[in-house]
Amino acid sequence: MKVLTVFGTRPEAIKMAPLVEMLNADAEIDSVLCVTAQHREMLDQVLALFKLTPDYDLNIMKPNQTIGMITANVLTGLDDVLKKEKPDIILVHGDTTTTFVSALAAFYNQIPVGHVEAGLRTGDKYSPYPEEMNRILTGHIADIHFAPTTRNRDNLLREGIAEDTIHITGNTVIDALLRVAGKPYEFEDEVLKNTDFENKRVITVTCHRRENLGENMEQIFGAIRMIADEFDDVEIIYPVHLNPKVRETAKKILSGADNVKLIAPLQYQPFVNLMARSHFIITDSGGMQEEAPSLGKPVLVVRKETERPEAVAAGTVKLAGVEKKTIYELAKRLLTDNAFYDEMAHAVNPYGDGKACERIIKILKNSENLL
Ligand code: UD1
Ligand code: UDP
Repeated sequence: MKVLTVFGTRPEAIKMAPLVEMLNADAEIDSVLCVTAQHREMLDQVLALFKLTPDYDLNIMKPNQTIGMITANVLTGLDDVLKKEKPDIILVHGDTTTTFVSALAAFYNQIPVGHVEAGLRTGDKYSPYPEEMNRILTGHIADIHFAPTTRNRDNLLREGIAEDTIHITGNTVIDALLRVAGKPYEFEDEVLKNTDFENKRVITVTCHRRENLGENMEQIFGAIRMIADEFDDVEIIYPVHLNPKVRETAKKILSGADNVKLIAPLQYQPFVNLMARSHFIITDSGGMQEEAPSLGKPVLVVRKETERPEAVAAGTVKLAGVEKKTIYELAKRLLTDNAFYDEMAHAVNPYGDGKACERIIKILKNSENLL
């Protein structure tokens, strides 16, 4: 069976890397990897860590790219690869524009699609934007759906997706996390090397969502700045996404405070170790809402909604919204109310057990009738 895996951004790469490793090692599978490079540096960091060499690199990233630019370049670039490789199936991940457009290119070539991390929904087509629509459209093109949780499966069933094409596998993010977490690790980054994790309370921050650019991001960073100014024993460490719009706002509101460190995006291994040594996390990232609960770290999600309600139900994640006052108050409470902190700081694993990749490959091998 020839399996072509396609991804393009940092989170897709992290979550697909352990699967590609396993596909490459399987004697019954001819595994081909194509990266769109919708991200460049942030993708290359992951490829280097997992020692993956793509067979095809569409190299499409442009500074300040629009969704339309990504769409056009992935569609034409991948079309050539599909015509040349003629895979039995392509695998895509999650909800980026690389994901949806790769599925579309496969459909145009009448090639089956397997969707990894299928069935996440908020119910609001503009939030997250464009991810909610990307995953709905991908879900309706896909032939096999690898849903992380029962809730994700139920979302697909509600949209009329055939039950026998949906498989609950867990999320491959836990497979990736287990490859790097819990091993002895010393930071190489100067800021992290010089951080006093014993005596300071470190808050790890990330923020990048398109619907948060502008006013929401100003509110979020405003709250973080208030916390930094008020608490001497708090250190904010924020590896800033390479999106120029994010960098500009972060610099405007957060630079100039001694206890706020704006640093470059970290490789996955140091980043996981940073999360593991942090007091808590403030983020709008999807993947970190899945990773932090398994590390037992409280998370304030700076968004209006989440497609990952499992960790909210388990108590480790709180939806903090995008208003300065609410975010500030919740962060302050985590710093001042021990009982509130302890209630959130327990390890749970609602997203997987580290065996998702193994299950996906087994299902693929049993799905030859679809191909
Ligand atoms: C993209 C995905 C989003 C995903 C996120 C993960 C879309 C439309 N958006 O958003 O779903 O959650 O990735 O991070 O699919 N840049 C660099 N180097 C990099 C990466 C980005 O310079 O390695 C800069 C470029 O100027 C680029 C900009 O960031 O144009 C935005 O990148 P883009 O992929 O369009 O959007 P993200 O916000 O990263
Ligand atoms: N991450 C990383 N280095 C960083 C920040 C995040 O390796 O400096 C990892 C993080 O652990 C998670 C993923 O990148 O696995 C999240 O990516 P991002 O926030 O770009 O996308 P999202 O999760 O929102 O889709």
